[in-house]
Amino acid sequence: MTSTHSDALVFFGATGDLAYKKIFPSLQAMVKRGHLKVPVIGVAKAGWNLDQLKARVHASLVAHGGVDAAAFEQLSGLLRYVDGDYADPATFQALRRELGGATQPAHYLAIPPLLFGEVVLQLARSGCTENARVIVEKPFGNDLASARALNQILLSTFAESRIFRIDHYLGKRPVHNMVFFRFANAFLESFWNRRFVRSVQITMAEDFGVQGRGGFYDQTGTIRDVIQNHLFQVLANLAMEPPARTDPESMRDEKVKVLKSIPPLEAKNLVRGQFAGYRNEPGVAPDSQTETFAALKLEVDSWRWQGVPFYFRAGKSLPTTCTEVLVRMHRAPRVFPTVAGLPNHCRFRISPDIAIALGVTVMDAEDKEIGEQRELLLSHRPGAAEMDAYERVLGDAMAGDATLFAREDYAEEAWRIVDPVLQQGTPIHAYEPGTWGPREVERVTPVGGWLNPTVPT
Ligand code: BG6
Repeated sequence: MTSTHSDALVFFGATGDLAYKKIFPSLQAMVKRGHLKVPVIGVAKAGWNLDQLKARVHASLVAHGGVDAAAFEQLSGLLRYVDGDYADPATFQALRRELGGATQPAHYLAIPPLLFGEVVLQLARSGCTENARVIVEKPFGNDLASARALNQILLSTFAESRIFRIDHYLGKRPVHNMVFFRFANAFLESFWNRRFVRSVQITMAEDFGVQGRGGFYDQTGTIRDVIQNHLFQVLANLAMEPPARTDPESMRDEKVKVLKSIPPLEAKNLVRGQFAGYRNEPGVAPDSQTETFAALKLEVDSWRWQGVPFYFRAGKSLPTTCTEVLVRMHRAPRVFPTVAGLPNHCRFRISPDIAIALGVTVMDAEDKEIGEQRELLLSHRPGAAEMDAYERVLGDAMAGDATLFAREDYAEEAWRIVDPVLQQGTPIHAYEPGTWGPREVERVTPVGGWLNPTVPT
């Protein structure tokens, strides 16, 4: 039987920032778990040699999670390095030689999308694409037109089943667990719809700024950086219908259907903010109109969800770092005059810790028929014990499992929703670092308010 597992990982952008912060620690973890035994060929134009790449990997591990001596040694043994320009055919001939006997490599493009076209072309010309997979980093384009153009470039050489568009949020177990929890529990279905749900809110807060990524961030902004991709994936898992089967295509069909039901975002349902001081960050334009905060409201215009507002809020330099979802129910009709009927809710904490909780009203301890809100914590785990999202998605891509990757139609639908308002441009409002965004956010606030998450210390 032939294995469908990739027999080499070719890593474009191996000397870059993402590699240093996220990918090398994930590769070490994969080695440690016995999930990575094939050559890892770094490709970059840095004027480096293999020893310099190994030193960089070591430094990355020291800074991000620690060195496991045995795993590092194994990883070092798997590393190869090709230095050269992506426009130069010689770089790809050198890569072909390094691939040696590998017959089904995975090419991981952790490089700016502007370079995809050239790299894919050169890979094809040098005979490196037969039976190969391609793993593509986000951002997948900058708008609908560029996402379509990227799809065309990739599909000119690779079949869709061989393209893996990364959204590392899908590699987070609690995000996938939302689907599991919904469809493994019959009771949930009875209230998971427009008759019972009043609103849904999804918050992704970060208490840090742009961390030296000003150049990238100023071209991107919060909506493109995390809402159009990460938070839409969370939304799709919350709102999708039960899949016919759990194979990748059946799962991804349901997610695309959610996005197809969403009308384009309107300017009146969007508030953009920028934290004071952002314009002084290196790489940021002094008159930048890029948002570091956004709050927005969308509708999923489907049989199940029509009329239920879905609110999103994300930003940098907020009071805490936490991603959380709150599904708020309609209030119960009043029976007990003394009960300040608080709505029931379901809460999913995605990070930093992981929780699923149900909010209910119970009689207070004094038996006075006064309502008290309590949360039934269904599960709670520290996030630190989780497999890193990059480890999961890289492992899945190399194994050929596409479930946790954005399909061509999904990527384009996600852009369709936000593109018109992004092209139009809307006002930007200043906010102080360490606050929950600009005052104007009141305009896009669910009934009952935003739940500002607090994180256990
Ligand atoms: C990245 C964004 O995709 O996701 C960053 O570019 C953001 O701006 C990051 O900080 C958040 O992901 P995580 O997994 O670190 O919470």
